[in-house]
Amino acid sequence: MRRSLQFGLLACGTLVVVLAGYWLWWALEGRPDRGRPAIGGPFELIDGDGRKVTEQNFRGQHMLVYFGYTFCPDVCPTTLFNASAALDDLGPELAAKVRLIFISIDPERDTPEVVKEYAGHFHPGTTGLTGAPAQVAAAARAFRIYYRKAAPEEDGSYLVDHSSILFLMDRKGRYVTHFGHETTVDEIAAALKRLL
Ligand code: NI
Repeated sequence: MRRSLQFGLLACGTLVVVLAGYWLWWALEGRPDRGRPAIGGPFELIDGDGRKVTEQNFRGQHMLVYFGYTFCPDVCPTTLFNASAALDDLGPELAAKVRLIFISIDPERDTPEVVKEYAGHFHPGTTGLTGAPAQVAAAARAFRIYYRKAAPEEDGSYLVDHSSILFLMDRKGRYVTHFGHETTVDEIAAALKRLL
């Protein structure tokens, strides 16, 4: 009787210690993204030279991540030009700490060669990525990006509806903030300067 009570108390005490230890670990280490939305994450895509690229390729650099497509008539180029101008504002030394990453959500037309050529229109620190449709879908899901191909025109051309959000990620790939296509160059540059 007594023994089983002692054993019971010991078991309870051990459990409390284990749970407290786990809670402490969780509070300090287990959730490094405290207060950050769970945006971003692992991705595997293809760069302009046809090489496999993952988020690990950009560790140590801040990322400005934008999902769009090269045939986009207005919003995509505007956002990427604003991001490029913000990087120009930083000057080469600070801008070198940031990678502007364009991820195509239209891999059907945006082959590696096409995204490479497109990225060349923007800041020199711009990388164009594409991938197999499933790879692109997984990356878009990680960043909670919506996209949907619209019905094609008679000539076969088509638009793609998509969320237009420029994400700023820190050098560990964690979400910092995001901008819309109406965000000004100054606002993007100011956010970058605060972070770098
Ligand atoms: Ni667009």
